[in-house]
Amino acid sequence: MPGITLGDTVPNLEVETTHGKFKLHDHFADSWTVLFSHPGDFTPVCTTELGAMAKYAHEFEKRGVKLLGLSCDDVQSHKDWIKDIEAFALGSKVKYPIIADPNKEIIPQLNMIDPIENGPSRALHIVGPDSKIKLSFLYPSTTGRNMDEVLRALDSLLMASKHNNKIATPVNWKPHEPVVISPAVSDEEAKKMFPKGFKTADLPSKKGYLRHTEVS
Ligand code: BEZ
Repeated sequence: MPGITLGDTVPNLEVETTHGKFKLHDHFADSWTVLFSHPGDFTPVCTTELGAMAKYAHEFEKRGVKLLGLSCDDVQSHKDWIKDIEAFALGSKVKYPIIADPNKEIIPQLNMIDPIENGPSRALHIVGPDSKIKLSFLYPSTTGRNMDEVLRALDSLLMASKHNNKIATPVNWKPHEPVVISPAVSDEEAKKMFPKGFKTADLPSKKGYLRHTEVS
């Protein structure tokens, strides 16, 4: 059976974490969450990634988004490892919870498996307040993630959601740059919806499908 993916509800597992036990849906309720997995504690790439998450935590807080880590060791090991992460991340504190999965029972249920290695991966799900997956990345254990890209993708999701998915963000988009209008929106609707107007790219097909606008 394929694992959970975009649009699926994350199973409401009870998880043990560095902040105690809770049910995933209780954690997800009322905000967006970045749920990110790691192959194991006291490993080099994971240490840099969790340190970067601690450094970027204020950016997620500003957006009202929670962080939730997972690593395939137990809670005591996570607590010991956090001392190394904080020493490496120079002044940043790991304030977000980290799920314990010492027996690797949780990662398959969250589809955070590397199918080539048949083991833990660097998976990342952005989960909405409805506990559904809005975006997923799957990296092998040899490739550390880019936190700027995590934030950029999150900003795109939040912007599209704010505008009821009537807009989308183009290649390499960053906040404050123009967005594009969804093909599902007609020019007549777009005129009413976007008070700043829109610019249609003059392309050889003359189909008028590439329309940029500005939103906040
Ligand atoms: C790491 O975090 O450095 C790592 C973990 C598992 C395999 C390879 C690298």
